Amino acid sequence: MNLPNHIAIIMDGNGRWAQARGHSRFWGHIRGAKAATRTIRSAVDLGVKNLTLFTFSTENWKRPEMEVNFLMHLLSRQLKKELKMLMENNVHFSCVGDISVLPKHAQKALAETMQATKDNTGLNLVFALNYSGRQDLLSAAKEFALRAQRGEVDPHSVTEEDFNQWLAGSERPHPDLIIRTSGELRVSNFFLWQAAYSELYFTDKLWPDFKHDDFLAAITEFNHRERRFGQTGDQVARTSDSMQNDTL
Ligand code: IPE
Ligand code: IPE
Ligand code: MG
Repeated sequence: MNLPNHIAIIMDGNGRWAQARGHSRFWGHIRGAKAATRTIRSAVDLGVKNLTLFTFSTENWKRPEMEVNFLMHLLSRQLKKELKMLMENNVHFSCVGDISVLPKHAQKALAETMQATKDNTGLNLVFALNYSGRQDLLSAAKEFALRAQRGEVDPHSVTEEDFNQWLAGSERPHPDLIIRTSGELRVSNFFLWQAAYSELYFTDKLWPDFKHDDFLAAITEFNHRERRFGQTGDQVARTSDSMQNDTL
């Protein structure tokens, strides 16, 4: 089986999962955190190199304060709880998104996890936290403008590769496969630039129900896709080896 080099997941449906069972949305988030841990283990077992989990969007600040606080505490708690597992599995942890505005306790837990795992060489696990695809593009545009102002780049000859390096997480390949749970057919301001040639996989499963077999089903489906990157099917058939990835 051809493993996607980078899988990104929009983990959606915690609230509905809980409400369907007569519980508060918070319970769904607790079960969602367990599903995240399970999925990290699955990725390690399968040998996936890069896994990004969309954990909290910039728009999620609009939720009731109680829910936001709960999510932030759950994040801190979960990071502390799972550090041993991350270390045992040689997982390298990092973030995309502006984490400088997160509550201090979450920033501390994130910093400690990043520091502890910085030399690990296995799965690259990335949490997208306070992440917005538009904000990401905007900050890259600002970086470009500042560099142009200082005379470091020529606006006439700036390339996609140049621009790409100013985006969050640009040291990693773009996602080959983006999975979204809960039946919603949208990207909700996730990787806008990075998803240019990602294969999209949608499942009705709510995130707390997402298991190893669902992960495998997504990867299996990915294997049946023909990634053409603008070329014809015949061309792809002739150059299949070199056509596997988004080259940017
Ligand atoms: C995903 O589940 C978790 C976050 C976005 C933080 P939701 O909380 O969005 O669950 P639904 O979509 O309301 O069911
Ligand atoms: C997307 O889910 C964000 C995360 C999974 C972190 P949302 O539940 O926030 O998306 P919308 O609001 O339904 O588009
Ligand atoms: Mg949702």
